[in-house]
Amino acid sequence: MKEKLIDNYNRKIDYLRLSVTDRCNLRCTYCMPEGGIKLLDRRELLTYEEILRVVRILSELGIKKIRLTGGEPLLRDNILDLIEGIRNIPGIEDLSLTTNGTLLRKFLKDLYSAGIRRINISMDSLDPKKYREITRGGDLTKVLEAIESSVEMGFESVKINVVLTSLFDWKDSLEFIKFAIEKPVSIRFIEMMSISDLDTVECSSNLINIDKPKVDIRSIFESMNKFGKYCKIKEPLGFGPAVYYRINGSKGKIGFIINKRESCYYCNRIRLTSKGSIKLCLFSSLEIDIKKELRGGTDNERIKKLIKSFIKRKPKDRNSNIKCKVGSDLKIASFMNKIGG
Ligand code: 5AD
Ligand code: SF4
Repeated sequence: MKEKLIDNYNRKIDYLRLSVTDRCNLRCTYCMPEGGIKLLDRRELLTYEEILRVVRILSELGIKKIRLTGGEPLLRDNILDLIEGIRNIPGIEDLSLTTNGTLLRKFLKDLYSAGIRRINISMDSLDPKKYREITRGGDLTKVLEAIESSVEMGFESVKINVVLTSLFDWKDSLEFIKFAIEKPVSIRFIEMMSISDLDTVECSSNLINIDKPKVDIRSIFESMNKFGKYCKIKEPLGFGPAVYYRINGSKGKIGFIINKRESCYYCNRIRLTSKGSIKLCLFSSLEIDIKKELRGGTDNERIKKLIKSFIKRKPKDRNSNIKCKVGSDLKIASFMNKIGG
């Protein structure tokens, strides 16, 4: 029987962000320290069989939409097998992917055949040098080629995530707006979220660069004016907190994701980390170790009950951080590559 996951603030949880690996081939300055982080032992990762079991349980609890994330999800071996497995689970209506785009091009055909129609690509600058600096070595050409091919192949939605880093300036904002005018993609300006704001997590800003951008998100919004009239897009695009606009005559759209607590009031998501914990909020260290249950012989009905009661502890918003000790892993647990952005 189909159930629903409702939290204590009457939010219906139907969206899962599924991190399939903590590995990444880039080292974005706001996400990972230069030397990388201590990676999980492969045995610590959920196997595909385990992931599918959790997804089946969650779908029976009302999860309908899943986004694969990482690290870089395309680095996980045989990722297409997992995608096909998830597609075959009744109740999962939407399966999408977030990637850094560097390996994407050669996967596109197979991803399309496997049923992926929506792709989000992280690309924080259109200037190759700056891109290399932000990602510590990434090749922008590869990402641009992948975007071009995604559009040509007819993916329904291609969104570009642009996190506003300390290097982001006025010129970047104008170039991205032009990009959205010329190409049928959505450019999403994302205000940097500092999970180091958490007082329980000592994720240190001396390791990760979270300095403010040279131009703030509100000025970017105002600069749309320069390109003509624009209007707000009424119908929601995707299932997230972005607000979208279209400039008259443009092929693409422009979205803004502001780091404010009000976005949390409509939060519909939970996360499954690559090491098999369910997290209720990016900003909370509260998590439940599902892998322990899966490997310890707990049956599905019991796991369902555990998840249902855990959901009730979902924090009201990003500022109501719940203090909770999760052991020695606390510090690295906060790196975004582990929990999937
Ligand atoms: N703030 C905002 N967005 C972030 N992402 C990663 N780290 C942060 C952060 N600190 C985004 C990346 C990527 C997605 C997975 O999460 O842009 O697109
Ligand atoms: Fe990799 Fe994404 Fe983190 Fe960059 S932000 S290092 S692409 S996981």
